[in-house]
Amino acid sequence: MMKTKVSVVKDFVIGKVEDTLFSSFIEQLGRAVYTGIYEPDHPDCDDKGFRKDVVKLVKDLGISLVRYPGGNFLSGYDWKDGIGPRDKRPVRLDRAWKTIETNQVGIDDFYDWTQRTGTRILGAVNMGTGTVQDAGDLVEYCNYPGGTYWSDLRRKNGHDKPYGIKTWCVGNEMDGPWQICHLDAHDYGKKALEAIKMMKWTDDSIKCVVCGSAASTMPTYPEWDRIVLEHTYDMADYISIHRYFENLGDDDDFLASFYDMDQFIKTSTATCDYVKALKRSKKTMMLSFDEWNIWYQKNQTEHGWEKAPRLLEDNYNLLDALAFGGMVITLLNHSDRVKIACLAQLINVIAPITTEPKKGSFVQTIYYPFKDMCRFGKGVSLQPVVRTENKITKSYGEVPAVVFSAVYNEEEKTVTIFALNTSKNDDSETEIDLASFADTKLSYWSVLCGTDLSARNSFEKPDNVKSEILNEGVLSKVEQNKGVYKIQLKKASWNVLRFNIC
Ligand code: AHR
Repeated sequence: MMKTKVSVVKDFVIGKVEDTLFSSFIEQLGRAVYTGIYEPDHPDCDDKGFRKDVVKLVKDLGISLVRYPGGNFLSGYDWKDGIGPRDKRPVRLDRAWKTIETNQVGIDDFYDWTQRTGTRILGAVNMGTGTVQDAGDLVEYCNYPGGTYWSDLRRKNGHDKPYGIKTWCVGNEMDGPWQICHLDAHDYGKKALEAIKMMKWTDDSIKCVVCGSAASTMPTYPEWDRIVLEHTYDMADYISIHRYFENLGDDDDFLASFYDMDQFIKTSTATCDYVKALKRSKKTMMLSFDEWNIWYQKNQTEHGWEKAPRLLEDNYNLLDALAFGGMVITLLNHSDRVKIACLAQLINVIAPITTEPKKGSFVQTIYYPFKDMCRFGKGVSLQPVVRTENKITKSYGEVPAVVFSAVYNEEEKTVTIFALNTSKNDDSETEIDLASFADTKLSYWSVLCGTDLSARNSFEKPDNVKSEILNEGVLSKVEQNKGVYKIQLKKASWNVLRFNIC
């Protein structure tokens, strides 16, 4: 049995957790859009062809932004193909994913979907084949009230009121040689600066995200980020970073993905602050972690030129959900600088929600820690002071075996502790010290764990893996002395504990 102690002090604030930390991503890729959110011949779709089961599941998650329309798809996409009468929209080759894009869903339709799901669009402009003019025109189409060519076209297409899309990604992963019209850092930095000027001169209330590195493993990281920021620092509001993890066969390494993500954020923050110093700027650059998840990249299936093929449809197991929980903890622990974070993606494509055409849907294991984050992560994150055992990992050396984040919600008078025990062998006898909050009461505890870490959900067994909410009887037996709680964190478990402040 391990011994762990975590102290959470009310005044030791890391930063406000913005609701945009609970964001996601839908790309025109595979079945994310077609038979994912949109399926006009589904028996249970609404008047616009959106699947009602998916709308409900997304609403239940409580996410804020949804990044759209890509992704690698973005860099070859002309947004004008996706507007106007559906029967007039062109069918195109999507060269990024080698599929056929029917353009039956475009920006207007996606806006309608966000209205149904209570989400907001995180827009994206094409910096591959797209021009600076296209970027400005898209902002005009979406955000300008009316009386100009593009805004009147939006009105003619059925949306009188502008969409008010507040945040825009200026391209996608432009550092990646796989990107259509990939650029070097100087060329991208110059193009992004001109695009931002055009976009902000159309709507000066918007915020822009420039492309940082597609992964910390990129050979150009972090030089790419430095150069891009040197070109764009004054006009940009965020720099994006992306990172996917996968289990390459060493479970302990995989469970330590939180540590890798933590180092990535720290180095990216330092790179931003270096450029801030260089520019003698008063502005602090924020990070938009607008693609993060687990992705088994080897599993990519062969396919011909098809419409909406089954691509990147990972089926996650319990171990994946635990590693994922570690990433949730890292994101919350960096809420001072990571202001946007998009789980990539949302439906079918490396996603927490899976659908079957004409049939139902189920949630993957990773749905649970993501929902916990969206539901209970609101407030300010506090710096937990942790004493626990270390584990030796091959890739990262010594890392803590038990990790925590803590969120204080002053309005709701609650403190939520997110805890991951990464040990596959040992439970942890854990003390949670909340003495600085005066009187507290444990009101909720959910646990995601199990004896079979390879267990998964499926259409046949949709509830094979799910979080268990512990009952009142269990909560009332938890020992407490002057705000110090004694609990046991099971081996290989993800835990959410909520305390009411009396
Ligand atoms: O999310 C899948 C892909 O991962 C995105 O299209 C791209 O931006 C990233 O490489």
